[in-house]
Amino acid sequence: MPDITLTTLQSLKARGEKITMLTCYDATFAHAVSQAGVEVLLVGDSLGMVLQGHDSTLPVSNDDMAYHVACVKRGNRGALIAADLPFMAYATVEQALRNSAQLMQAGAHLVKLEGAAWLGETVSQLTQRGIPVCVHLGLTPQSVNVLGGYKVQGRQEQQARQLRDDAVALEAAGAAMLLLECVPSALAAEITQAVSIPVIGIGAGSATDGQVLVLHDMLGLSLSGHVPRFVKNFMAGQADIPNALAAYVKAVKEVSFPAIEHGFNA
Ligand code: KIV
Repeated sequence: MPDITLTTLQSLKARGEKITMLTCYDATFAHAVSQAGVEVLLVGDSLGMVLQGHDSTLPVSNDDMAYHVACVKRGNRGALIAADLPFMAYATVEQALRNSAQLMQAGAHLVKLEGAAWLGETVSQLTQRGIPVCVHLGLTPQSVNVLGGYKVQGRQEQQARQLRDDAVALEAAGAAMLLLECVPSALAAEITQAVSIPVIGIGAGSATDGQVLVLHDMLGLSLSGHVPRFVKNFMAGQADIPNALAAYVKAVKEVSFPAIEHGFNA
């Protein structure tokens, strides 16, 4: 059992203290990030891009994810470990159960799935069998080919209503956490108010219950050269990585990150 549990995150939400999350893929960074006080380590399928050099997350396998979860588990010092189910690893409920079990047995404490209200049955089945679920809404990178690119979601009123309804439906299905990526800040604030589970944002403004960034992005490392507007380089002005990680935790807790310019308008 890690020091940080879902109950800890619920208490942070209840008392209005922001939750910190960063992606993490190996033991050394898991040690540094958890020692810096980050509450949730996300073994994201972004590893397909930042570690493996692919141009999307689609080539990542569940075995890849399990390998990196096991690495993170060895270095972790008390943080909660969330792990992505990769592309097509949860196309059916049976696949979701089998692949989530592999990630939980490797060391994850919860799994993250990208989607919408259609995931309700999967969320409910996983939760009933002891696997907490975080649902990733908004810009869902595994659907980049359907979305037509990495674009802000929920700008039109109908899309925004759908996102709000999906969030409420997924909480009712048993989701333990939501992650909102690249949605207008005002919409993210509304969704955060509409549900009682913690909502973590990336490119979703400062009103969500917590923040996440890709570790390599916030350390100023970029393979493609493209830096999304919601990223801040926390290495700037810092002597070393532990100081940059501490600066991130401080900025999220103080709500000085994200600033207005890191978010999106409707
Ligand atoms: O895979 C990942 O790193 C993610 C973050 C972008 C939230 O899902």
